[in-house]
Amino acid sequence: MSALIDGYSADAALYLRHWAPVLAPTAGRLLDELADHIAALGRPARILDVGAGTGALAVAAAARWPDATVVVSEPAQGMLELARQRAAAAGADIAGRLEFAIGQAGQLPVADSSVDAVVSSFVFQLVPDRDAALREAARVLSPGGMLAYVTWLDRDGRRPFRPGDEFDAAVLDLGIDEPEPPPQEHAGDVESPRAAMGELRRAGFADVLARADELVHAWTAESYLDYKLGYDELFLLSLLGDDQRQRLASDARRRLARLRESDFRWHAPIVIARGVKPRD
Ligand SMILES: C[S@@+](CC[C@H](N)C(=O)[O-])C[C@H]1O[C@@H](n2cnc3c(N)ncnc32)[C@H](O)[C@@H]1O
Repeated sequence: MSALIDGYSADAALYLRHWAPVLAPTAGRLLDELADHIAALGRPARILDVGAGTGALAVAAAARWPDATVVVSEPAQGMLELARQRAAAAGADIAGRLEFAIGQAGQLPVADSSVDAVVSSFVFQLVPDRDAALREAARVLSPGGMLAYVTWLDRDGRRPFRPGDEFDAAVLDLGIDEPEPPPQEHAGDVESPRAAMGELRRAGFADVLARADELVHAWTAESYLDYKLGYDELFLLSLLGDDQRQRLASDARRRLARLRESDFRWHAPIVIARGVKPRD
């Protein structure tokens, strides 16, 4: 298991509180990509969610298609446990149609040609080898089955975000050299919709389509500070003493309080991509 997956497992509860709600509305939009495909099946669909995290997308899929079964596949045990809890909270009808399995994108926990659709939300940037993960999705899909995923488009192209800059300035004011987090081997963001389509074709998919879109999240000064101190900057915080942590929190709070509400709207480019496994 990689350090990255261990980290997701250990911080699963914090992920659920701070980050899952930011991604969930976009994950929901991903299901629209599958609607015609699932309707055309004419029988209950079997869907697999790759890197399901705390289960928002899998539960939404089960709610949207009331006769579908959904395989909730996730390598981080801590995440999978919270997905189980989410499913149980959604009621017996939904929980009874979900199957939970530990599994990585490069080695999915289901047989060849055994699912009608593969979905994935904000995972294909994290996998060590995206080409291999796409080929693995093709392996598990039945002929004619569809893969639909969403992930970040090149994050260097993101618009400036003042709350982030102000937080960074508060870190600078501590006068410490901000350390680089340990390197992690991962595929990284998709460069462009065109690149996403090329990757899908290389993995054997047909009828490929990819479009750029945007994830927008309205933070507030409090929710952003809570996210930075409670989740996003845990590595940095682990290196600070109590005094430095308190100084950082109060300086960042003071800086964020000066911003306008509109400054807290975060816009992040994403790509929504899909492809079909050919029938022959
Ligand atoms: C940003 S979270 C997204 C979770 C969920 N799909 C969502 O939209 O909230 C990334 C997830 O990918 C999982 N992950 C990391 N590396 C993975 C891999 N190689 N294969 C499958 N999942 C992976 C993590 O454990 C984590 O649950």
